[in-house]
Amino acid sequence: MNTDKKVTINKLPTGVPGLDEIVGGGLPEYSFNIIAGAPGSGKTTLAHQFVFANATPERPALYFTVLGESAIKMLRYQQQYTFFDPA
Ligand SMILES: Nc1ncnc2c1ncn2[C@@H]1O[C@H](COP(=O)(O)OP(=O)(O)OP(=O)(O)O)[C@@H](O)[C@H]1O
Ligand SMILES: [Mg+2]
Repeated sequence: MNTDKKVTINKLPTGVPGLDEIVGGGLPEYSFNIIAGAPGSGKTTLAHQFVFANATPERPALYFTVLGESAIKMLRYQQQYTFFDPA
């Protein structure tokens, strides 16, 4: 196989200090990732840090919530964090 034709898989920063090093440089671009963990372990917060670390006007991020965690409830709590940017 000609290694010159390998596709480069870029890594997106997680926004969490130290986590990029643990996951091999960040989360792979164009990938499907499942964040799994015990109740209250920080899954939603991690997802938001990732969104705020990567979203731009040119490449916006979409965040979907389901009934168990409505958008208004999620926003009320997540806006307490320093990474949260209402703009
Ligand atoms: N990065 C963080 N810094 C400080 N506190 C945090 C952080 N991440 C999570 N927490 C604390 O843990 C609590 C639960 O976080 P979060 O809602 O993100 O967890 P979860 O895994 O999504 O929970 P659930 O299983 O209920 O969906 C937060 O309310 C907060 O108190
Ligand atoms: Mg959650």
